[in-house]
Amino acid sequence: MDKFIIRGGIPLQGTVRISGAKNSALPCMAAAILTEEEVILENVPDVRDIETERKLLSSMGAEVELGYGRAHHRTRIRCALLSDPVAKYEIVKTMRASSLVLGPLIARTGMARVAMPGGCAIGGRPIDLHIKGLQAMGAEILQEHGYLEARAKRLRGAHIVFDKITVTGTEDLLMAAVLAEGETLMENCAREPEVTDLASLLTAMGARIEGAGTPTIRVQGVERLHGARHRINPDRIEAGTFLVAGAITGGDITLAGCNPKHLSAVVHKLRECGVQCDLTDDTVRVTSQGAVRGADISTEEYPGFPTDMQAQFMAFATQAEGTSLVTENIFENRFMHVQELVRMGANIRVDGRTATVRGKTSLSSAAVMASDLRASASLVLAALVAEGETIIDRVYHIDRGYERIEEKLRGVGAKIRRIGNVFRENEASAAQVTA
Ligand code: UD1
Repeated sequence: MDKFIIRGGIPLQGTVRISGAKNSALPCMAAAILTEEEVILENVPDVRDIETERKLLSSMGAEVELGYGRAHHRTRIRCALLSDPVAKYEIVKTMRASSLVLGPLIARTGMARVAMPGGCAIGGRPIDLHIKGLQAMGAEILQEHGYLEARAKRLRGAHIVFDKITVTGTEDLLMAAVLAEGETLMENCAREPEVTDLASLLTAMGARIEGAGTPTIRVQGVERLHGARHRINPDRIEAGTFLVAGAITGGDITLAGCNPKHLSAVVHKLRECGVQCDLTDDTVRVTSQGAVRGADISTEEYPGFPTDMQAQFMAFATQAEGTSLVTENIFENRFMHVQELVRMGANIRVDGRTATVRGKTSLSSAAVMASDLRASASLVLAALVAEGETIIDRVYHIDRGYERIEEKLRGVGAKIRRIGNVFRENEASAAQVTA
């Protein structure tokens, strides 16, 4: 299995180019199901989840070309024939976002068979709200043998009020609504930039959508959609992770090609801790010298502090003076990184949904284990300031969502190397499903 070996203690300096957002690229690839014409996506990150989605779409009969036209980050998808509209368990279990194909498959083919995703390392991950919404749009849904089978000759518009804000749930139903008959009104929608990104692609394909990025989205269904070309937004979580890398090492890093507007909550918190962040339209420069102080965070839906940045912030809080309270409101079990950070010398106590981090503690190297995507990122950050050489095992979790993180870190001066074979298949299938 691949491991990272990281020697800590070096303030990172230089420029990091931010990749396209995995969480935008995944629904945008699923949106290609909605048309028989070609969809071209630019700025698609080269991460394992994208390869998984390629496999998923290909297994249904789609043509998917990553690196199309010799452009590393361009993807061409053509779903002319979807001979087998099934998302198999073998694929769904490694990437929960596979359930994003449910809505577009029913809308386009009138049927879908999608494996139930099951739980994952960060807690239960139900898709009941996707199902409820599709039923309201007239789909008949049967659940047996671990699969959902959904059918609808043509979905019809409906009034959907989400009981809880769900990102992929909003995206899934949005994709279903664009081809439904009549108007769909969705309330209490997720406002994440990834929803807005998907809506831009759908609009370029001919969909009629109002209100994406607000809690209320109104869709007028159309008969058919056509092909389109779309550029994926920069990844705000990758950007946030590198911001923390600059801050935690007392470095000076500039993030290039990011969207600072999507990073407001993280930038705001880092500033509160005494970290300097200078923004332009598409860059953020983070500089941190001297002591930083802790702050409390409480994860919320966008535009609040993202749950996908909670673990990374916690690593930072171990290096800040004073006590920081970290409250996780989105997922029930998203503190898997705590025990590993404690093994490196952190002082963290968890009580229910809140972790109390007492800083500043000096961290020392240890052999630690990555447990899910963002937890793994927090271990990398901790290792960057730990004394000695930290070995992080199971880095396939990181490869799911960070494009060549070790190369980008080396580019700003980190001492990090990978050992083992990159992207081995058996590791991919052993990987637990995480955000
Ligand atoms: C997406 C992101 C993930 C991020 C999360 C929250 C992708 C591919 N993944 O995951 O990185 O951590 O948003 O920002 O975009 N819920 C239900 N019923 C449902 C759906 C969700 O109860 O049908 C609950 C979940 O258990 C969770 C909460 O709603 O407690 C939010 O989950 P959701 O927004 O759906 O997360 P994902 O879309 O899976």
